[in-house]
Amino acid sequence: MRVEGRVVVVTGAAQGIGRALCDRFAREGARAVVAADLDAAGAAEAAVGGLSFGCDVANEGDLRHLVEETERTLGPIGLFCSNAGILEVDPDPNNAASPPDAAWMRSWAVNVMAHVYAARALLPRYLARGEGWFLNTVSAAGLLNQPGTAVYATTKHAAIGWAESLAITHRDHGVRVAVLCPQGVQTAMLRSATGRSPAVLDGVLTPEQVADAAVAGLEAETFLILPHPQVRTYMAQKAADYDRWLRGMSKLRRMMVSEG
Ligand SMILES: NC(=O)c1ccc[n+]([C@@H]2O[C@H](COP(=O)([O-])OP(=O)(O)OC[C@H]3O[C@@H](n4cnc5c(N)ncnc54)[C@H](O)[C@@H]3O)[C@@H](O)[C@H]2O)c1
Repeated sequence: MRVEGRVVVVTGAAQGIGRALCDRFAREGARAVVAADLDAAGAAEAAVGGLSFGCDVANEGDLRHLVEETERTLGPIGLFCSNAGILEVDPDPNNAASPPDAAWMRSWAVNVMAHVYAARALLPRYLARGEGWFLNTVSAAGLLNQPGTAVYATTKHAAIGWAESLAITHRDHGVRVAVLCPQGVQTAMLRSATGRSPAVLDGVLTPEQVADAAVAGLEAETFLILPHPQVRTYMAQKAADYDRWLRGMSKLRRMMVSEG
């Protein structure tokens, strides 16, 4: 698919990957790029075509309002990018069960339910029109896990499961889904990760490079968009020998903890 001429919505648009997606979609000739974020002022700066929203994606009413107002003002949404996400680092790197319930609930709402809420609001419209696209920013951590971030890795795996369900159920109805799964990207989120993050081991991309990969992946109409190509090799290694892969990840964890 090409974004040219389409109305595109991006959540988590105020900075980082979301902001780069907005800029890139505008350069691709999107009819409008609607930006939504907790940071309303940042969203207003990112928007192209005049429409932006202060929006908490963990709140279903906010997402419904975002979809309804966008379509009322600008017409049919062609691509909805659920990009907002949050990272919780395990309080105790030697205890995967150390994150409190509040961390699980917050991340479940933002990293998973926001994608479900977007689909609830949009699916009836996409189904009536017989077409529509979702691009969900997930993470390589949703495919390959990541030491020291049990909540993040688990909710990102759930986000992959949800995107698969959406794609499987609605392919026959003209609805298409893609997941954007980078490793380390130079954003506030990566900078906030304390200690050494395994996400940086294969090199850190700029948000602009990730946006380039997103556009290329959408054009190729591929479900799995991997800005770091190494991730595909690691997935194959995981599938080929799960136990060996787990031993390798444990080794990586030991290395991270000892290097602080
Ligand atoms: N940075 C990385 O290394 C990396 C790697 C893989 C995946 N990702 C994913 O990319 C996406 C974007 O992350 P980023 O690195 O650009 O992070 P970021 O922290 O720079 O930006 C995230 C944006 O989302 C907004 N946001 C957070 N919670 C929100 C909510 N409840 N409602 C609305 N907006 C909200 C923030 O205000 C912020 O503008 C996330 O889903 C993240 O998990 C990031």
